[in-house]
Amino acid sequence: MKPLRSLLSWVSLLALSRTVCLSASQSVCAGTENKLSSLSDLEQQYRTLRKYYENCEVVMGNLEITSIEHNRDLSFLRSIREVTGYVLVALNQFEYLPLENLRIIRGTKLYEDRSALAIFLNYKKDGSFGLRRLGLKNLTEILNGGVYVGQNRFLCYANTIQWEDIDRNPIASNFSVVPKNSSTDCGQCHKSCGNRCWGPSADECQSLTKVVCAEQCDGRCYGRSVSECCHRECAGGCSGPKDTDCFACMNFNDSGACVTQCPQTSVYNPATFQMETNRDGKYTYGAFCVKKCPHNFVVDISSCVRACPSPKMEVEENGIKTCKPCTDICPKACDGIGTGSLMYAQTVDSSNIDKFINCTKINGNLIFLVTGIHGETLIRLRDFISEMRIFTFYALSIITPTSPQGREKRHGWL
Ligand SMILES: *[C@@H]1O[C@H](CO)[C@@H](O)[C@H](O)[C@H]1NC(C)=O
Ligand SMILES: *[C@@H]1O[C@H](CO)[C@@H](O)[C@H](O)[C@H]1NC(C)=O
Ligand SMILES: *[C@@H]1O[C@H](CO)[C@@H](O)[C@H](O)[C@H]1NC(C)=O
Ligand SMILES: *[C@@H]1O[C@H](CO)[C@@H](O)[C@H](O)[C@H]1NC(C)=O
Ligand SMILES: *[C@@H]1O[C@H](CO)[C@@H](O)[C@H](O)[C@H]1NC(C)=O
Repeated sequence: MKPLRSLLSWVSLLALSRTVCLSASQSVCAGTENKLSSLSDLEQQYRTLRKYYENCEVVMGNLEITSIEHNRDLSFLRSIREVTGYVLVALNQFEYLPLENLRIIRGTKLYEDRSALAIFLNYKKDGSFGLRRLGLKNLTEILNGGVYVGQNRFLCYANTIQWEDIDRNPIASNFSVVPKNSSTDCGQCHKSCGNRCWGPSADECQSLTKVVCAEQCDGRCYGRSVSECCHRECAGGCSGPKDTDCFACMNFNDSGACVTQCPQTSVYNPATFQMETNRDGKYTYGAFCVKKCPHNFVVDISSCVRACPSPKMEVEENGIKTCKPCTDICPKACDGIGTGSLMYAQTVDSSNIDKFINCTKINGNLIFLVTGIHGETLIRLRDFISEMRIFTFYALSIITPTSPQGREKRHGWL
């Protein structure tokens, strides 16, 4: 398989904001969705990866590590503790994957619609470079999706792992851990590991937090006894029975405690029969409860969102950017002829008329060539003009080829 080279998707992602500080102790970064595409310049490929994930603890999106050469320093990946989408590791030549602190993969998006963790084709065809060990020693939870580990010629130990312990719902998942296919011998797990490990040393044993639990536990546990069940809001295991002892949260992390729901932003006051603002309310932001939405996010009801859903618009209230229902129709600014996406268009015609649907403001001109508009387009045009409320475009031109010079310009304001 040859890596696809696509510069475009990378360029568009470079525009995303990088790392956002959630609180003093938590930094969040946006993931990527490039699949196997990579930059043709491998130096740039590595530097982009590093820029994205250096000091990042929570990846809100997918973590994609592809086309990285064998001698690169990947130690910056140690900061990552959570990935909300999928983890893809493919077409690389490095020996060791240092995602040592990765605790949970949520699988809110899946690779190829099935894998939350996909690790494949990590070796150089003609040579001895390739992935030999997965450093995923803290990975104890995959909330949704399957695991695919295959075609890694030199990979050892991955087939000793009990993936069913990691996956929340193994019956609904797809497991496919293909043993390596080469003559190189793999070492043994350390004798304290009971034949399940990520690597040869004593601190690389797989820690089981589900299959070993007492039947009474409805999730994970920190020991085999009935009294050693984790709190039901925990994901990935725990160090004790409380909701503050979890390694990761199933639903939301409210200042260190795992909760089903963030504290509501408004509460009912039975004395006044009214909903009132809750001073202790918080907004949901990914799997966190936050007092304030991060920069670039807008409050929609009680969550932080990237953009308001229609039919709502962004307004600023008491210094907080909030989504409010539009009173009449939602304002929508569109490019006119000669600007933005219609830079090279000459007139409004059937090829571009759809770009004007629901516009309330046109930044640029609207130019119609009368003969260019027939039947269907004419009907659409009439509809959209009658629906426009605010006309702030520069000039409306109607060009008719029947005038003496062949063309006549009529400029008008509505
Ligand atoms: C893994 O999780 C444990 C808690 O179980 C924590 O003490 C440790 O620092 C984490 N990271 C590594 C690299 O083991
Ligand atoms: C498992 O993978 C196969 C293809 O390999 C696919 O047809 C099937 O739908 C998958 N099942 C689930 C539950 O994702
Ligand atoms: C494994 O190796 C054998 C012989 O070297 C080869 O025929 C086969 O295609 C390989 N399988 C995979 C999955 O690479
Ligand atoms: C919850 O978030 C805090 C930072 O806000 C972090 O220090 C803590 O480890 C997180 N707890 C869990 C269980 O994820
Ligand atoms: C135009 O607005 C209507 C009503 O708000 C909405 O249903 C429709 O999806 C919008 N169309 C486009 C292309 O934005």
